[in-house]
Amino acid sequence: MSKPKLIVTRRWHPDVEAVLAERYDTQLNADDHPMSVAELQDALRNADAVLPTVSDKVTAEVLSVDNMRAKMLGSNGVGFNHIDLEAAKAAGLTVTNTPEVLTDCTADLAMALLLTVARRVGEGERHLRNGEWTGWRPTHMMGTSVTGKTLGLIGMGRIARAVAARAAHGFNMKIIYHDPFPPKAEDIADLHATQCASPEEVYAQADFVSLHCPGGKETYHLIGTDALKAMKSSAFLINSARGDVIDEAALVTALENGEIAGAGLDVFENEPVVHPGLLKLENVVLLPHLGSATQETRKAMGMRVVENIDAFFAGQTPRDKLV
Ligand code: DGY
Repeated sequence: MSKPKLIVTRRWHPDVEAVLAERYDTQLNADDHPMSVAELQDALRNADAVLPTVSDKVTAEVLSVDNMRAKMLGSNGVGFNHIDLEAAKAAGLTVTNTPEVLTDCTADLAMALLLTVARRVGEGERHLRNGEWTGWRPTHMMGTSVTGKTLGLIGMGRIARAVAARAAHGFNMKIIYHDPFPPKAEDIADLHATQCASPEEVYAQADFVSLHCPGGKETYHLIGTDALKAMKSSAFLINSARGDVIDEAALVTALENGEIAGAGLDVFENEPVVHPGLLKLENVVLLPHLGSATQETRKAMGMRVVENIDAFFAGQTPRDKLV
């Protein structure tokens, strides 16, 4: 029997590409270019499974192709707001993601953003490299202490809980959170976290607000002018979730007016475009969507996709089936 045909939309960890090439009739994206709508549609016409990443927009338009051959989308990433799941389901596709394997890695990066912005690490490095450092002095580049402060989490899923564990146990931070679907008390008992009835309650108390909700319609611009005004003027906003949760124009205004103290951002509304106002500010830390970007995690994510497609083509229900 011939092997199922796969089209992989971007370069993946080399060990994972090797496994895919061995087990399947695999078409890789040798030059790693982002695929256009037409290329994604061709992929759906020509492969049994298409393996997109979180930067491929698999919209209803993309999925509206005639003569679709694909039966499965094995997405490389935990977030799935880049895929129109209803349209995919209507087109008869099985869709999977890669939960769990990137939890710790992303939580590490959220803490890195928090520490970097509070302790002015990026700013300090730029200062030194620019040859501006004239030596130690008591008032030089004073930042904000992290230990013992209050961390407010918007969303209390796996990644938020991993951030909370680092913050509570490593930095003695007090944890507060809001989640419309809160976790079971026993799952977070060791965090001594306080549940807030609304996001506003979190904004009012937190020294650091860290976003851990999914992107998409439900949370679009959750952090806009009102939310930013509700935060303490000394607070820092951290986003390692999805860019569209923040109204970037409102954030720039809030930062310029000193309504909040700073922001650490790994994700943006219109990636890879970053609001020009953010680029001008010193009190922001900007990273190019690196949450899961370690060798170990990217390999684990790819292997989780392999597990899902292996199950699918063996006639089983993949472990991470979304629809
Ligand atoms: C995801 O998986 O959703 C991240 O944004 C990329 O790792």
